[in-house]
Amino acid sequence: MTDQKATLNIGKESYEFEVRQGSVGPDVIDISSLYKQSDCFTFDPGFTSTASCESAITYIDGDAGVLLHRGYPIDELAENGDFLETCYLLLHGELPNKDQKADFVDRVTHHTMLHDQMTKLFSGFRRDAHPMAVMVGVVGALSAFYHDSTDITDESQRMIASMRMIAKMPTIAAMAHKYTVGQPFVFPRNDLDYASNFLHMCFAVPAEDYQVNPVLARAMDRIFTLHADHEQNASTSTVRLAGSSGANPFACIAAGIACLWGPAHGGANEAALNMLTEIGTVDRIPEFLERAKDKNDPFRLMGFGHRVYKNYDPRAKIMQKTTHEVLAELGNTDDPILDVAMELEKIALEDDYFKSRGLYPNIDFYSGITLKALGFPPEMFTVLFSLARTVGWIAQWKEMIEDPKQKIGRPRQLYTGPTTRPYLPLDKR
Ligand code: SDX
Repeated sequence: MTDQKATLNIGKESYEFEVRQGSVGPDVIDISSLYKQSDCFTFDPGFTSTASCESAITYIDGDAGVLLHRGYPIDELAENGDFLETCYLLLHGELPNKDQKADFVDRVTHHTMLHDQMTKLFSGFRRDAHPMAVMVGVVGALSAFYHDSTDITDESQRMIASMRMIAKMPTIAAMAHKYTVGQPFVFPRNDLDYASNFLHMCFAVPAEDYQVNPVLARAMDRIFTLHADHEQNASTSTVRLAGSSGANPFACIAAGIACLWGPAHGGANEAALNMLTEIGTVDRIPEFLERAKDKNDPFRLMGFGHRVYKNYDPRAKIMQKTTHEVLAELGNTDDPILDVAMELEKIALEDDYFKSRGLYPNIDFYSGITLKALGFPPEMFTVLFSLARTVGWIAQWKEMIEDPKQKIGRPRQLYTGPTTRPYLPLDKR
């Protein structure tokens, strides 16, 4: 807390507001009393200058390219830890000790199966449905199955709902993949770790034994860690807003999945790979860079730019390293798409248009190449993002529900429509 005050002058009136300090990052001006004092709203579509909440989970320094989860740098978590350990950290605020980690892993492992009735939901979709459409529908349907964990005011029910979501997302995601490729569902296996189990459910077939490659499983687990949480991004804000009304937690996560799907957000990994494929060869990069700068051309460099990072996305660096590891393990280091990506990144980083706007590669720039190499079709990329981000959505939802000052989110507006006018009978229009 600071004793600093912010003064706002509107006409002859002057209003004073408290300035609050976080543990790190920009101070905030608490304007919650602005409307009561001045009969005015603030106006900030896109929330470029607005803090929607107080949180202790994740911090991003966009200028320095820093990402902390409960104070731990993302590169240290990704290099030294694993995804379930990061899940525990996001949910509980501290890294687990040996016993806590073993208990957490055991609980997640024993919640990976779906109610058998849920498998029937998939047959309602066309086989060519986008897997994200399946995810929105099936995850939302979880709210129809678990009536023992709907009292969100009960801490134990909040935790069981959280564990179920973390545990079941890989099973649902793998089933969405199997359904669209026309192969039978593969059940989870309790003898496999989280990432290996997911790869097994996605790529095993009944006709033969499937051995998970440990190097690829480690890469998959690290990719989950990189996508776990990211402050108040669009999908997390969606989950918080949905949860602020007291809605069912599974339905709130389904709302987050819907928001993540957009190409400006989590859909950018699929869009980035499609863009690299469309560019095709290094000699066509200048043509696409010019299009990206042309205001009359809707084309954007997918996987570039970020609302917060005006420096390199720290996740992109680790993602790039993982890409090289996976391609080396699979022996296809001569993937032409990788050549296009690396040359495009090099040219863009030297180009004034991108440098002057702080446009750097974000996590989505390299993730598509890696996920394609792991065997996933592009339409599954955002599904994997939603699988990993589920723990971040849940941790933020839980923090919001447990905030004693929590109230329903209800933004106001600047109204520019018609003022009151009398009804016009049909024969007068
Ligand atoms: C994610 O918020 C999060 O944390 C999200 C995320 C997470 O983990 O949750 O990090 C995940 O969503 C990463 C971002 C993935 N999206 C993409 O890669 C899509 C391509 N990027 C752009 O659509 C854009 O950069 C955004 C949406 C990511 C950010 O847009 P902003 O902050 O609203 O910025 P802007 O659109 O106002 O752009 C500022 C300027 C504009 O030019 P000027 O008007 O100043 O001349 O930069 C230009 C834009 O035209 N610009 C781009 C560009 N991104 C911004 N120009 C070309 N290519 C781009 N990619």
